[in-house]
Amino acid sequence: MERLDKFLTNAGVATRSQIKAILKTGRVCVDGKPMKDGSAKIDPEKQTVTLDGDVIGGKKRMVIMLNKPAGFVTSTDDPRDRTVMELLPKEYAHQDLKPVGRLDKATEGLLLFTNDGDLLHRLISPKKEVPKVYYARHEGTAGEDDVAAFAAGLTLRDGTECLTAKLEPLGPGESLITVCEGKYHQVRRMMASRQMTVLYLERLSEGGLGLGDLARGAVRELTAEELQILETQAE
Ligand code: URA
Repeated sequence: MERLDKFLTNAGVATRSQIKAILKTGRVCVDGKPMKDGSAKIDPEKQTVTLDGDVIGGKKRMVIMLNKPAGFVTSTDDPRDRTVMELLPKEYAHQDLKPVGRLDKATEGLLLFTNDGDLLHRLISPKKEVPKVYYARHEGTAGEDDVAAFAAGLTLRDGTECLTAKLEPLGPGESLITVCEGKYHQVRRMMASRQMTVLYLERLSEGGLGLGDLARGAVRELTAEELQILETQAE
């Protein structure tokens, strides 16, 4: 909840003294009813404020990053499992945030959330080629033939064709994988198609944004600079 006069000032409608005068004239309405009292408390998430009929403020665009621990499903609601929504602090509860794509229950690492549906769709569209980098521990060791097969575009065991992807062997049983699409269990299935069952999977980055020193289970809002990077990637 926030004072109406403060909300109007923050929205850049007019100066504080002008707002006082405007309020007196009854030109400001909250949920359709004229409101002259600047000290009245409003909830900008739930109420609509208008000046001469024009909506003021509107929902703030928000993009946050979670370092997902294992054991949570990427869903807004699940009858059995704990969901990633339970990991978001209360202050984000009414922001209408949706996870950007999915991480499996066992997968850890970077998961973005946003209330901007257009940005969400652009980020998950394979056409936008937003790269997602994963670290995998797996059975076997990736070789040059595997690297070439990833680059050529793999065909999964069920016949699904994948776009070109990057496989970087780090050593025995460890690799980095970069993909620009998000098919169901994609990385696990890609690795399985090359006889390298994934034992552990972590998303390290998306669209050039990394986890930095964000602790497992922690959440933070993106900076304006990071939002700019993401917008450029999803253009
Ligand atoms: N690919 C997978 O197989 N699992 C994930 O969680 C993400 C990408």
